[in-house]
Amino acid sequence: MAKRRSVDPIYSMCVQPAFIIGTNNEDGTANFAPITWVSVTHEEGDGYLLVISMSGTKMTKKNVLRTGIFSANLVSTDMLPLMDYFGSKHAKDGAKNDMSYKVSRGEIVDVPVLDESRFVYECEVERTVETGDSTTFFCRIRNIQMDEKLVCEDIFDVDLTVLDPVIYSDKYHSIGKMLGNIGDFI
Ligand SMILES: Cc1cc2nc3c(=O)[nH]c(=O)nc-3n(C[C@H](O)[C@H](O)[C@H](O)COP(=O)(O)O)c2cc1C
Repeated sequence: MAKRRSVDPIYSMCVQPAFIIGTNNEDGTANFAPITWVSVTHEEGDGYLLVISMSGTKMTKKNVLRTGIFSANLVSTDMLPLMDYFGSKHAKDGAKNDMSYKVSRGEIVDVPVLDESRFVYECEVERTVETGDSTTFFCRIRNIQMDEKLVCEDIFDVDLTVLDPVIYSDKYHSIGKMLGNIGDFI
């Protein structure tokens, strides 16, 4: 049995997948920023909705509110310097071009996409919910671009060890081994 202690409910522990969000600025240029408050939910039919939350008045949020579209580029551990850079600079202070990175366009949704990312969602906002200064977007995933090295037997067979994602919980982490499937431990 774990020996636990009660603490103030202000500690931050939320295991978050790291994504860099690509949006279109008003002048047509691209902007990228890390957002890790990301999850999914289900709707009628087969589709998933990507759920993503943005606080404050950052450009990424303004762009999503204005255009209703964005790319979510999964961050692998080799992309950490780029994510750290995008997260430390605000678009309002100038273009984020101190580091070099290659950008393409989405294949279905007209959004900027990072060439380095191994897994990209192209998204369109369907619903928004406001809580305090945060906006949560429920988004239709219109297209997924995945690394050709990823071989999936079915839609639930996405090998995270190939994607090597950064996991964020106020510090950056990586994942370990693949442990098995649902039912393997009964
Ligand atoms: C690792 C990391 C995760 C972040 N996650 C979020 C998030 O989930 N939601 C959010 O609103 N901001 C988040 N941010 C903050 C934005 O990325 C940051 O404010 C960025 O500079 C915004 O850029 P922009 O002004 O170009 O949109 C995160 C930053 C980092 C470094």
